[in-house]
Amino acid sequence: MAHKRKKVAVIGAGFVGATTAHWAAQKELGDVVLLDINEGTAIGKSMDLAQSGPIEMFDTKIKGTSNYADIKDADVVIITAGMPRKPGMSRDELVGINAKIVKDVCAGIKQHAPNSVVIVVCNPMDVMAVYAKQQLGFPRERVIGMGGSLDSARFRAFIAEELNVSVKDVTGVVLGNHGDAMMPVVRTAAVGSVPLVDLLPMEKINAIVARTKSAGAEIGGHLKTGSAFFAPSRGAIEMAESILKDQKRIIPCAVELNGEFGVKDNLMVGVMCKLGGAGMEGIIDFKMNADEKAEFDKSVEAVRALVALLKMVQ
Ligand code: APR
Repeated sequence: MAHKRKKVAVIGAGFVGATTAHWAAQKELGDVVLLDINEGTAIGKSMDLAQSGPIEMFDTKIKGTSNYADIKDADVVIITAGMPRKPGMSRDELVGINAKIVKDVCAGIKQHAPNSVVIVVCNPMDVMAVYAKQQLGFPRERVIGMGGSLDSARFRAFIAEELNVSVKDVTGVVLGNHGDAMMPVVRTAAVGSVPLVDLLPMEKINAIVARTKSAGAEIGGHLKTGSAFFAPSRGAIEMAESILKDQKRIIPCAVELNGEFGVKDNLMVGVMCKLGGAGMEGIIDFKMNADEKAEFDKSVEAVRALVALLKMVQ
């Protein structure tokens, strides 16, 4: 009996998309289709990546294309197409530009990969994910925003750096929106299972929280043109791997809340999710304390404000 390999489609072959394809190929998650409106970029980068296979020893097939027919029956589609914010560009301008791109992309996905789980990476992610879900008409289990995976990795990297310990022994999550009002959860962060709050003074923890919130801007400030791509793409692949291998890992990501944490109105907010073969298979609905709930609510309002911008530009 023919055995079907898993298939991952990456939309957008820029910095984030190409690096996403790189991780997926290297980890042999399935065959990879890299699609870009600029066909040459997608084909050239796919060829180059495929030619690293005999050295890195992966069997992944990689196809570059601008034709949505090639993403047919993909199990997971990762949307990275979109413009990073340029200096002087307002947030609503960016929402308008990227919403047009997301609309195009979703039409292709809906037609050719209607059963896929879609991971939204392009920014402003919170609102692009809401828009993608509207355009696709998929259930909430199959449209998931990548933000928490990245922000949590940054939080853990900074904790490990401060304490000079391995990142492998640091746990911690960032919930809420993927922007300035994100919510690194200090109470549950731990190093070797010991609560972070017992290991560092509060001013050091506050500095780590502040750096986590501005980590994307810090990198953008150095790069001048463009924005982060190694950790964002790896965040998307952490999610994709859990889905493709039905690992049922608990990963913070943006999903539509239907009353969890008191949130409704089709808003997508970062919470801890179980990711498996069906996509988002469950939300870890834990009890926040009053301070956490107040912080989370600010995140929710930030998403609501962005969704209002989307309505303005539509
Ligand atoms: N369909 C397919 N691809 C498109 C479309 C479209 N309608 N419009 C643009 N693209 C492609 C571009 O041709 C380009 O190759 O999207 C790619 C974007 O790549 P980069 O400009 O390198 O941007 P990148 O750094 O990858 O960021 C992409 O991810 O992290 C977010 O904020 C970031 O929104 C941005 C997105």
